[in-house]
Amino acid sequence: MAVVTRAGPVDIEPLASSSGNMDSADGANPDPASSIESIASVIPLYEPDLSGNERRYVLECLESSWISSNGGFIPRFEQALAGAINAAHAIAVSNGTVALHLALHALGIGPGDEVIVPSFTYIASVNVIAQVGATPIFVDSSLDDWVMRADQVEKKISPRTKAIMAVHLYGAMCDMTALCALAARHGLAVIEDCAEALGCTFAGRHAGTFGTVGAFSFYGNKTVTTGEGGMVVTSDPNLADRIRLLKGQGQSLTRRYWHEILGFNYRMTNICAAIGLAQMERLASILNRKRAIAALYRQELRDAPVTFQGRSRDTVSAEWLVTALLPSDVDRDEIALAMERDGIETRPAFHCAHHMPMYATGDSLPGAEEISRRGICLPSYPQLTERMVTRVCLSLRNAIEQARRGGGASPTNPRRRFD
Ligand SMILES: Cc1ncc(COP(=O)(O)O)c(C=O)c1O
Repeated sequence: MAVVTRAGPVDIEPLASSSGNMDSADGANPDPASSIESIASVIPLYEPDLSGNERRYVLECLESSWISSNGGFIPRFEQALAGAINAAHAIAVSNGTVALHLALHALGIGPGDEVIVPSFTYIASVNVIAQVGATPIFVDSSLDDWVMRADQVEKKISPRTKAIMAVHLYGAMCDMTALCALAARHGLAVIEDCAEALGCTFAGRHAGTFGTVGAFSFYGNKTVTTGEGGMVVTSDPNLADRIRLLKGQGQSLTRRYWHEILGFNYRMTNICAAIGLAQMERLASILNRKRAIAALYRQELRDAPVTFQGRSRDTVSAEWLVTALLPSDVDRDEIALAMERDGIETRPAFHCAHHMPMYATGDSLPGAEEISRRGICLPSYPQLTERMVTRVCLSLRNAIEQARRGGGASPTNPRRRFD
């Protein structure tokens, strides 16, 4: 996943409600051209907000010496997450990738099985399928909201299909009513990759609570972070028990050093859980802030030649990472480079998994390919001020204008930074 880079401390100021006011904080109206140059600090893509009880709880771990995976913060963090999303069982693990891996493994998915997964996703969603020995079957993503569609998934179902991996990307959600109905008709498991979806709801229900099992990530750039960390959620008590067993070397939950099944060490540390609990205490305010930032981006760029990720009517987005499609006549790398010169970090949308050497299938997935080619992620962390968002938008507009005036690299220009 992208590295969380750091800038100097940022001042927190309230976002303006809806005026789209681009004035500076002191009320002066800055000259747009000079304002970029006059602000020296770098705006990173993401920076976690650790301003709550994180430090206090971590110190508690250190002072009590409960630094491994048996401390009291782990069940507290699990309960906090389960309570926030209304899940019956939540099991803390060491990262989001192993959460997905455990889910597939616990469901008995393995060699000879197929799992349908969007090609446009972070590679972990696909790797875990290969890691259990199953075959990822790639499905296209909708150009509207950039996630998989049940009718497209249905076309990929074969007698070997065992599961659908529904990936909720950038804070949007798949249509879980349609996907769960499809899965039920064909007797398939549904694994929800909710790494980017903490705070998302579909028809009032939280991501991760529709499928057979859901998996969250708490990497440093996620809505809630533990540094590295993950959580598996399920409503099935037997599956929850099996996942608990598997994550701790298969050791019996009642008899020490008695290993009932072949397991893994996928445990979360008490220190990570301490950070996670402190983060969960501020989940609502983090989400509010991120939603306000996303709304401001959309407002300020409403007449710019970019297309934001669409939302289905039933979805409330967590606005994890504000991402937009650039116009097709500009080179994304050139835009990113220009913004980097303005001190603004961006990130390209994911490459399609079916283009990666180990998964190259020769498939044509036009929606996924277009989002992947044109998508750019913008700074989206809670401490961003209104001024910073304005600065990002200005830089993006300028970069597009310059690229269109013809200074720039063609899509095949060797200056590409991200290949
Ligand atoms: C969609 C998606 N799936 C899975 C993961 C894997 O999570 P982790 O990095 O915690 O292993 C990530 C992110 O980081 C992700 O964005």
